Amino acid sequence: MPTNWSEVPESLRCDIDIVADSALSQDPQACMLAWLAQEQRSLAYTPHNDGHWIIFTHKLAHQVLCDAKNFGSFPIGVPANYQQRPRLIPLESGPDEHRRYRRLLLPVFQPDVVKTMESSVRAHACAVLDAVMGNDKIDFLSDIAKPIPTRVFAEQMGLESTMLPQFYAWETGFYRAPTLEERLACGQQIALHLQQVVEQHQKQPGAGNIVDLLLAAEVEGERLTAEEVQGIAYLLFLAGIDTVASMLSFTILQLARNPHQYAQLHEDPEKVAASVEEFLRLNAFISLNRICEQDIEIEGVLIKAGDNVVVPSAITSRDPQVFGAPDTFDSNRSRGEQNRHHAFGAGAHKCVGLHLAKLEVRVVLEEFCRRVGSVSLSSDRKIIGHGGTTMGLDALPVDLHWAAQ
Ligand code: HEM
Repeated sequence: MPTNWSEVPESLRCDIDIVADSALSQDPQACMLAWLAQEQRSLAYTPHNDGHWIIFTHKLAHQVLCDAKNFGSFPIGVPANYQQRPRLIPLESGPDEHRRYRRLLLPVFQPDVVKTMESSVRAHACAVLDAVMGNDKIDFLSDIAKPIPTRVFAEQMGLESTMLPQFYAWETGFYRAPTLEERLACGQQIALHLQQVVEQHQKQPGAGNIVDLLLAAEVEGERLTAEEVQGIAYLLFLAGIDTVASMLSFTILQLARNPHQYAQLHEDPEKVAASVEEFLRLNAFISLNRICEQDIEIEGVLIKAGDNVVVPSAITSRDPQVFGAPDTFDSNRSRGEQNRHHAFGAGAHKCVGLHLAKLEVRVVLEEFCRRVGSVSLSSDRKIIGHGGTTMGLDALPVDLHWAAQ
């Protein structure tokens, strides 16, 4: 039987709601960090969202994420919500199946393949930025951060560019439609469309986009079935658009609040490349979750089979035991320190798309910094955010001063 709130000792109880705390809607990251500031413990149990553990230290988080035997990844969600959607491949697969998926997926997302995507990512970034050039008041999220990864995803999946408006609508509906039925309907439309795309690519194989690469991927005579490619395409949609948009918007929020940091990047956009890892660390926003497979004791605390264990990367990526001056932006951290953040997770499920994600973040910021002289938060409009396992911003109104071109 999973842990019940009534049996959790007082010393391990906390009152954190990572989904619906009202402070998350104003500034989700600040809200998380405020929780961290109060914590002296390695872990605690909250009764919210069907009850789950929260890990506060980097060391313990790493132990959980790297122990796939004791901490499984199905179902993902807080609260776990498998009934409402298809199984996510490869995230929700068991260790053996997962190894096979990774072997087939990794070559598609390896650095030299991703490098060939740079010119097209840059072309999309420039097109979107040029379309808003001159507007001194924009919503960074809907005008820049969302459209660019959506266009990149559409191109990678071989989707028609005429489908983009429809895709924005499904995507926004999937995450934010007011009712569960509407969100599910958007998810089904996306899945159906991706199924048609995969079938079309099977009939007429092309070269170069991710669907073609996945259909052709072969390791030791093994290939993915069309259904598996559809499942993976669905996860790539979930994992590859909103995440990049969130990372870009949290980073611009950081830079808008720290004009001296922005000024340095505007003066020399080539410095963006060396700052990306530190942007990722400071703006990590995913709360990963694992389901305990069997009773296990960690740091003297019994975690029971079936317990949901949440690893908030925003918190563990600022652990002072690992990162000196953890709240300071420092793009010169030692390599060992720099690469240890949990923005992309850790262990077997560490983000397969991390090279592409870093490329998108770097290229968009380079092009933004080149064009925009200064960025500040609008005083007349509010930031809107949300919590959940993928916390993010729904509106980031900013005032821009465009540089002379
Ligand atoms: C800044 C952007 C991104 C962030 C912060 C991010 C973060 C993450 C994290 C934390 C995980 C681990 C989840 C877990 O262990 O429970 C993950 C997994 C994954 N991500 Fe990303 N991601 C980003 C962009 C992308 C992109 C662009 C793609 C591909 C187009 C992608 C594809 C995936 C896939 C397929 C997995 C599952 C890997 C597995 O289960 O083996 N991600 N991502």
